[in-house]
Amino acid sequence: MDEPVRERRASLADIWHDQAAETWLLETRSAGYAFALADSGAALRHLHWGPGMPTEMPPALIALAGGQPPRRERYRTGARELPDEYVPWGGLRFDEPSLKADYADGTRSTEWRFTAQRLTRQGATSTLELDLTDPVYGLVTTLNYRVYDGFDVIERWAVLGNRGDQPIVIRQAHSANWWLPDRERWRLRYLHGGWGAETRVAEATLGPGKLVLESRRGTTSHQFNPWFTLDPGARADEDSGEVWSGALAWSGSWKIVYELTSAGHLHACGGWNDFDWSSRLLPDDRLVLPPFAGLYTDAGFGAASREWHAWARAHVIARGDRTGMTEPRWRTASRPAQRPPAVSPAGEPVDGAAPGPGEPGAGPRLRPVLYNSWEATSFSVSQGGQERLAERAAQIGVELFVMDDGWFRGRENDHAGLGDWTVDASKFPLGLDPLIERVNALGMSFGLWVEPEMVNPDSDLYRAHPDWVYHFAHRTRSQHRNQLVLNVARPDVADWVFAQVDRLLSENNIEFIKWDMNRPFSEPGWPAEAGHNPERIWVDHVRNLYAILDALRAAHPGVEFESCSGGGGRADLGILGRAEQIWTSDNTDAWDRIVIQEGFTQVFAPQTMMAWVTDSPNWWTGRRLPLRFRFHVAMAGALGIGGDLSRWTERELAEAAELIAAYKLIRPVVQRGRLYRLASVTADSCGAHEYLSDDGAQVVILAWWGPSSCGGGRPPLRLAALDPRARYADVDGRQQYWGAELLHEGLPVNGASQDDFGSTLVRLARRPS
Ligand code: GLA
Repeated sequence: MDEPVRERRASLADIWHDQAAETWLLETRSAGYAFALADSGAALRHLHWGPGMPTEMPPALIALAGGQPPRRERYRTGARELPDEYVPWGGLRFDEPSLKADYADGTRSTEWRFTAQRLTRQGATSTLELDLTDPVYGLVTTLNYRVYDGFDVIERWAVLGNRGDQPIVIRQAHSANWWLPDRERWRLRYLHGGWGAETRVAEATLGPGKLVLESRRGTTSHQFNPWFTLDPGARADEDSGEVWSGALAWSGSWKIVYELTSAGHLHACGGWNDFDWSSRLLPDDRLVLPPFAGLYTDAGFGAASREWHAWARAHVIARGDRTGMTEPRWRTASRPAQRPPAVSPAGEPVDGAAPGPGEPGAGPRLRPVLYNSWEATSFSVSQGGQERLAERAAQIGVELFVMDDGWFRGRENDHAGLGDWTVDASKFPLGLDPLIERVNALGMSFGLWVEPEMVNPDSDLYRAHPDWVYHFAHRTRSQHRNQLVLNVARPDVADWVFAQVDRLLSENNIEFIKWDMNRPFSEPGWPAEAGHNPERIWVDHVRNLYAILDALRAAHPGVEFESCSGGGGRADLGILGRAEQIWTSDNTDAWDRIVIQEGFTQVFAPQTMMAWVTDSPNWWTGRRLPLRFRFHVAMAGALGIGGDLSRWTERELAEAAELIAAYKLIRPVVQRGRLYRLASVTADSCGAHEYLSDDGAQVVILAWWGPSSCGGGRPPLRLAALDPRARYADVDGRQQYWGAELLHEGLPVNGASQDDFGSTLVRLARRPS
């Protein structure tokens, strides 16, 4: 009897409601999530998040507990801190609430009743919406749960609606409240860093109380990333063990609270940062909160990463809005620029508009090999200089040539120019056309750097509109990199930002935009709105940014985007809905990058991880590394070249051409395959990634090691997820291996080599049996 259920669950996600017991069960590929109505309809109480469970089980749990969700407090608290799916502040609750609202008559707590549910099936997704209504004030909180066929990801978000006749001030509103099962000694893993040192994995053991990770900077931030894993007893590792993971899709200030409550339950809850934020919800207004996705696996950190990657490829990357958060706002009168028929580097036709949420689609195209001029030319760009770089880039096999900063009026250094987005006629007397034509004639597409949310005080824009930046009356306007942040929450400023980039894309054959954002917010004021909720800027800025990007993508299908914020300061699942790739870090030292990339791939797919090969010694760290090593590290994601090619020797150029050709061969497996992090330079004698094609037939190994010590060699590298009975041939050598041998004895990676900073690339193909 069980078999058909299992079969269906293998491919279809589904949502079950038991009317008698008032329970819900979300079934994903191999996991389950359940909750029940409690307290006579006043709460939705969490029951389960973990391995899949039979559909009969949630109602049985309720029956066993005498008609109510079981109470599982470990300690008596004198409170009612039960694990509710979404917690409105009020009553005897002292743990972190999900929602805090002020009503017009001075009431500041919320009580509600479950009033309605809707279940919709669209494409490969099922979405459950549950309405919780405050009967007095008309605040309706709709909890959304979305499950995806073939995945273990559950996406949650809330929508707040004011159906009353008075304004409601929302002071805190989380996207989701994730309750974990009652286990002991939870380990939290998260990503922390700074400029040049992003996405490094940190760990903490959670004891009683709260740990709060957040950004108050207006962007996702270099310091912390809204992603986590939790595993009880620190028992999980890369290959095994139970792991719960979450990722918030938001590119502005955020907050996630990890709290082991006084009652002994652990929850991870969060969304928009409530610090300095509030939103005044007028009658009939709606507030759509960003998605907070979560997943469970019993197969370790590696499996959690692979799930995030595959799900993002299928449903997030460049798919646009998944929740109705942004409404189409700009129409463009301009025609998209004429450009050659779009084909991917692999020769496949490129889709036009990306499919919407839940709609099946081909998935993002393979990332082209890119050249970026920043480290070579900094602000000193010129037509001749860029053409010389482009010629060399084309010679070594680059497919997309990107001119970085310095091309617009007044931009001689970082003191001036931001805001004046017209081409500098002294550098490009005939505009960008001649350069773009030359780049196209060399067989490459052309991309451009912009930083449209910013302004230098030394710019015509600022001189004309000093009130367009965030500022407080009678307070310093703190500069950072000599620039200020435009108040993109203002509709007129958002219109202007859209118009600048729309014009550039309409007038020039630009096929790629690197969208930068180089400083955090400060003095986040909007004096003209004093008394009218200027604190909303934290959210409205990002919502408008999303709407601008969505509109630009709709108006210019085929143009692709990279998200950059002084390196990897804006890396999250929200921006990835609008960008094909992320600039991982301004630190291009390949040895440092291994660690940054190890953290980045915990949640983000390799194809989104832009990695450049730059000059040696590295401009920032001064470290000298072999060209091959630098390439092998950058080949772990989307390969780019960022060095000054005019100074590379013929030998270096020839080696680069050979390595780029090798990358193009492994690219489909690296970008679309499954990533196994075999070893970490922070713990092992070398770092290594294995990428496995979906059918298991192609295997790519990249391994890197640092200085050797005491003449010690490195043990062979044990591979993962191969068929032990199959034979695998080294495509570039003569060697053949049994799968069992590679899994148990390992692949010899560096023989007797004592090289400091050595690396290898091995391609294996499964032999037909
Ligand atoms: C930021 C980016 C760099 C480069 C510069 C240009 O720092 O991270 O890659 O684009 O801005 O000013």
